Amino acid sequence: MNAHLTVVSHPLVQHKLTIMREKSTSTSQFRQLLREISHLLAYEVTRNLAVADIEIETPIQKMKAPKLDGKKLALVSILRAGNGLLDGILELIPSARVGFIGLYRDEETLEPVEYYFKVPDQLDQRLVIAVDPMLATGNSSVAAIDKLKKAGANNIIFLCLLASPEGVECMKKAHPDVAIVTASLDTKLNQKGYIIPGLGDAGDRMFGTK
Ligand code: URA
Repeated sequence: MNAHLTVVSHPLVQHKLTIMREKSTSTSQFRQLLREISHLLAYEVTRNLAVADIEIETPIQKMKAPKLDGKKLALVSILRAGNGLLDGILELIPSARVGFIGLYRDEETLEPVEYYFKVPDQLDQRLVIAVDPMLATGNSSVAAIDKLKKAGANNIIFLCLLASPEGVECMKKAHPDVAIVTASLDTKLNQKGYIIPGLGDAGDRMFGTK
């Protein structure tokens, strides 16, 4: 993955995203669609994984056939909304290693503060896919990537459902080496930092909280 921003324009992704955006979509429908769209995004984000031929034996004969090569990739969920994307991706890549990063925004300094950090070992040898459905201001996403790099990660993709131009710019400035994969580049942020037109609060919509 080398382009800084990839928008996955596949019709199924766009169709499912449209239903997710609808405010009348229920929590259970939202979750189901998120799971389905995660599969499709995972397919896109893993398109350049290395494979190597191994010797196998079919019921008919021996052959060389490709299998994923190298260290298991690491999926890192940025809490809490990242978990919605994570679950679907894990169904497609069940052997992936998994990490979690929890950050909250200090109301006085407005800086992201870490409250949880647990990631797989040997991050320097893995493709690391950081997942968070919304790349909004980009501040917490950039902070999460800072922490992953400090832990050794050097091959990182940021996967989200929606991105704002502000968030993409923020990430590009701080981490030009991190490719962003998203289902949509939306128009802008509103004054509260919500993506417009967006889908509302992704965590609330997937977990049924308000
Ligand atoms: N986080 C969300 O859940 N929604 C937005 O629109 C922005 C950030």
